[in-house]
Amino acid sequence: MTLKDKKICLGVTGAISAYKALELARLFIKEGAEVRPVMTRAAAEFITPLSLSTLARSPVYGDLFELTQGTKISHIELAQTSNLVCVAPATADIIGKAASGIADDLLSTVIMAACCPVLFAPSMNTRMWENPMVKGNVERLKAAGYLFAGPAEGELACGTSGKGRLAPVEDIMEAAAEAVSMKDLKGEKVLVTAGPTREAIDPVRFVSNPSSGKMGYAIARAARRRGAEVVLITGPSHLAKPAGAAVVPVVSAQELHDACISYYPQSTIVIMAAAVADYRPVKSFPHKVKKDADKLDVELERTVDVLKYMGKKKKGHLLVGFALETGNMEENARKKLRDKNLDLVIANSPMGLDSETNQVTIIDRDGVAEPMPPLKKGALADVILDRVVGLKKG
Ligand code: CTP
Repeated sequence: MTLKDKKICLGVTGAISAYKALELARLFIKEGAEVRPVMTRAAAEFITPLSLSTLARSPVYGDLFELTQGTKISHIELAQTSNLVCVAPATADIIGKAASGIADDLLSTVIMAACCPVLFAPSMNTRMWENPMVKGNVERLKAAGYLFAGPAEGELACGTSGKGRLAPVEDIMEAAAEAVSMKDLKGEKVLVTAGPTREAIDPVRFVSNPSSGKMGYAIARAARRRGAEVVLITGPSHLAKPAGAAVVPVVSAQELHDACISYYPQSTIVIMAAAVADYRPVKSFPHKVKKDADKLDVELERTVDVLKYMGKKKKGHLLVGFALETGNMEENARKKLRDKNLDLVIANSPMGLDSETNQVTIIDRDGVAEPMPPLKKGALADVILDRVVGLKKG
């Protein structure tokens, strides 16, 4: 959603990882971006312009002088009408040129003339990456506001292992999305909770629910991208940590409560997407319970309602809760909005719990209900944050 309709000039230089630029072009297109591919002469030794133009759905630009003859858009137009220049892979050579103000081919000219963010995803041998000249160039570019994604560590094409691998394409996508996002949450401290909690019966058994954490993680990632400082308190989840967010892992409702309380005072916005267990075993056995008896009664007691507690202690915070309902969705969600002193409630059904998409109704503190179509959780995260920004503006 963030990259939808964005014009991305994708610069590809001559590294062995150039083939990954094909996947990047495909993913940019899938996100709804317009890709304008530019290849250096060296890049064409690694991948063909035909492959790149097919996946980018655009002719490949390569020759500076061909463009200036007016047959295609000019290099200046390419530089100045793009929302992002993303150089992936970026060799030591293109980094050096950009840092030294050299513009001797189409890509270096576009970088020089760009009035949008420029993102480099370096890819080179570890020795090259650690070379003081390259390091100095990267530092100078960073100081001048150029952005970097990676490089990552791992096996390198030259048979060695270390830092210098092209960052995973998903990380480059995330950095690109961050680069083009409006920073409308800058200055905000956002506390997000995600995932299920587990309430122990004994060391190997627990009471829990099928929440995956995807909704909360998507919100944390989107808030970070939009300029907020983010703390993500998460129950057990296998999802990758959102880059740039402080992640606090917890297991039980009590641990989630304790973590929330310690971050609450310094937060300005709280988004409670966690599926907190409402009941826990009164007694948690220290040893594995043996199956000697035919029946086992497990007595449960209420856990603390973290959101309700925060609603009571609210001091200028903006509180967002979720309402998981199997019936009377809107009515029950409105009750939670009132009882927990919320500013926004997201009503949803259990169908969204472990799914990539969710269909919700958003209800604000004035009682306005907005039914949404089914959306991918990443897109829904941005819609929720749009409403949060709207409420903040008053
Ligand atoms: N919540 C919480 N602490 C709990 C239970 C829920 O902070 N012990 C939060 C959830 O994270 C969610 C909101 O309260 O944002 C509503 O949770 P939900 O499960 O829909 O409702 P409950 O308040 O638990 O009520 P019920 O289970 O009776 O519907």
